[in-house]
Amino acid sequence: MRTALVTGAARGIGAATVRHLTREGYAVLAVDIAADDPALPYALGSPAELAAVSSETFVADVRDPSALAAAVAEAERRWGGLDVAIAAAGVIAGGVPLWEMPPEQEDAVLEVNLRGVVNLARAAIPALLRRPEPRSGRFLAVASAAATSGLPMLAAYCAAKAGVAGLIRALGVELGGTGVTANAVSPGSTDTPILAESARLYGLPGAREFAAQQPVGRLLEPAEIARVLAFLAAPESGATTGAVVPVDGGLAL
Ligand SMILES: NC(=O)c1ccc[n+]([C@@H]2O[C@H](COP(=O)([O-])OP(=O)(O)OC[C@H]3O[C@@H](n4cnc5c(N)ncnc54)[C@H](O)[C@@H]3O)[C@@H](O)[C@H]2O)c1
Repeated sequence: MRTALVTGAARGIGAATVRHLTREGYAVLAVDIAADDPALPYALGSPAELAAVSSETFVADVRDPSALAAAVAEAERRWGGLDVAIAAAGVIAGGVPLWEMPPEQEDAVLEVNLRGVVNLARAAIPALLRRPEPRSGRFLAVASAAATSGLPMLAAYCAAKAGVAGLIRALGVELGGTGVTANAVSPGSTDTPILAESARLYGLPGAREFAAQQPVGRLLEPAEIARVLAFLAAPESGATTGAVVPVDGGLAL
């Protein structure tokens, strides 16, 4: 049985990814902080949301390397090994120029969105490499169209997501010849609570306002991002590594 660990699993893109992989027959450990962050003015995923996604859950803050190490160890203990690790946990803050941003919000954005992915790579890649050869391990991250665009009032978020893209490119090379690949997807505006918070930060009436910016003319659904993550997670997708794949309805064009 192929196994996976997904962070940010309580809702949105992470939850859709857990559901998609579970339907495909993976055993999936759904990891989330499942608590609000006092630095951020919007609600994060809740314990009830996490429990609704899967019966195989693990509460961890991706900023805590030892918590992620424990999550990886739990997946290996339950299922005998790990094939796929997906870093989907993320937060957003901004709405003002970088130099006016409260330092604790800047920290949350950089630490969760970039350090959290680095932490998962450090915890999970050794487990992916513990699988016997020939392996088909997959380290995947959710970057953003913000990785390549200069979005005003979201400078820390852009910096973190560009950092994820750089990390993935380097990991792709570092993992060369191992059978383990590293890739990211860069979603466009996807209908989740993070997008609702982005709309609030921009003073817009709601997330729907972002639809017109995307050539496809609509918001994306979390399941559409999950589908591409699942494609990249497959053992047959070993020809792609170090790639940052746009799943953005053309937003970055
Ligand atoms: N929705 C979009 O338009 C969009 C676009 C581009 C990229 N993204 C990225 O997609 C990813 C998923 O976001 P989403 O849109 O599903 O948002 P979301 O807010 O619905 O889900 C994010 C999840 O991450 C969890 N989380 C937050 N901080 C955490 C921490 N420290 N440790 C563990 N879990 C934590 C939250 O509890 C929540 O369940 C994020 O990395 C986000 O930056 C989203």
